[in-house]
Amino acid sequence: MGVVHVSNPATGEIIHSLQTSTKEEVTAKVDKAQLAFPSWKALTAYDRSKLLIAWAAMIRENRQELGELITLENGKPLAEALGEVDYAVSYIDWYAEEAKRIYGRTIPTHVPNKRLSVTRQPIGVVAAITPWNFPAAMMTRKAAPALAAGCTFIVKPAEETPLTTIRLIELAHRAGIPEDAVQYVLADAPMVGEIFTSHKAVRKITFTGSTAVGKLLLSQCAQTVKHATMELGGHAPIIVAEDANIAVAVEQTIIAKYRNAGQTCVSPNRLIVHENIAATFTEALVAKVKELKVGNGMEADVSVGPVINRKGFDKIQDQIQDALSKGADAAVGGGHNVDEEQGFYFVEPTVLTNVSADAKIMTEETFGPVIPIVTFKELDEAIAIANDSLYGLATYFFTESYKTGTYLSENLDYGIVGWNDGIISAAHAPFGGMKESGMGREGGTEGIEPYLETKYVSMSL
Ligand code: SIN
Repeated sequence: MGVVHVSNPATGEIIHSLQTSTKEEVTAKVDKAQLAFPSWKALTAYDRSKLLIAWAAMIRENRQELGELITLENGKPLAEALGEVDYAVSYIDWYAEEAKRIYGRTIPTHVPNKRLSVTRQPIGVVAAITPWNFPAAMMTRKAAPALAAGCTFIVKPAEETPLTTIRLIELAHRAGIPEDAVQYVLADAPMVGEIFTSHKAVRKITFTGSTAVGKLLLSQCAQTVKHATMELGGHAPIIVAEDANIAVAVEQTIIAKYRNAGQTCVSPNRLIVHENIAATFTEALVAKVKELKVGNGMEADVSVGPVINRKGFDKIQDQIQDALSKGADAAVGGGHNVDEEQGFYFVEPTVLTNVSADAKIMTEETFGPVIPIVTFKELDEAIAIANDSLYGLATYFFTESYKTGTYLSENLDYGIVGWNDGIISAAHAPFGGMKESGMGREGGTEGIEPYLETKYVSMSL
């Protein structure tokens, strides 16, 4: 048994220490999820829905406390953390309703004495592994559809941010969801991955995290042919067309790029700007970036918190230094405020110009408040730059022309497209990526499908 120390990324202070579980304890929890499955599945969709609605109400009652917890363990500004609580609840609201719309169908028969029907049933025990960047919303985005479908659910939260998940699960139990129907485990990540992917009762793995870990889990899932939803890395391009409304493009870029200090999978990682407006756009963007206040998310007016830890900071610094060494300029930012002893890492919101195509930042996910700008002449050139990525999660573009916009949205190889829009996530819309950004979708009507099996019944009269 080990101990996890949860620290505040804004100060380095340890806010809580938790004991981790052993292999046997993790396995026992999965066994309990298996035992709880038949009775949870047997509830009517209306009863499961009522319990989800009660859970959502509990979270709303505790909104402020949960928001503060998110800020304390993740570092994001409190206003953003409260927004995340609302976003997290919106998944429960949505799937509480979707529970009632898990329809089957009848199929016209080919012979008179047969009746053919299709039903949907819950897949079984669902095991989830969630990230630290949205400790509330990434948990409910998985738990709500799983529970709505009739699956039991067990989650391993990120070591950096387990407190929010633990609190959400306590609230779920207080709302009446049986203890073994929704559980968490806190233990060594590779060990949990191994147990989740090898335990026969687990029928589905749902993971949000890095592409490297996603590939490992997928290969492990093959042993027992588990279903898997993978929400992996991203490297979102933003195309700013010559006819873009620059004020809108700047405003939406700031929101998309700097929320959560750039630590989102859909965070823009490349700005591809038409050469005729590049100077005007860059000047306007830099002016707005200078207004962002970096600091402890508990303080009023702070808009960019710390990055999560040393590892994240080192990666960001490596990309900045690499770009600068290859000729880039920091149009704004480039600095940091770090105390290695205390253990906090703040990165100045940064915009890089004159970035070489072979700079690491042009292909590697940054997960920090830094963005490079490159320019283009022809739209097809911008599309080629944008699509030249292993990733295919989110993309954004800005244009006032419906023809340009339609052409871009049809030719960009990304699962999520923001057209004059930097805020693309919603519980009622499908979230997920193409290529190495993953497989499957979360949210929307699509988001409950991965928790259901299809059963076809051929009845001979
Ligand atoms: C993520 O970064 O994976 C989630 C972001 C979102 O839901 O907007």
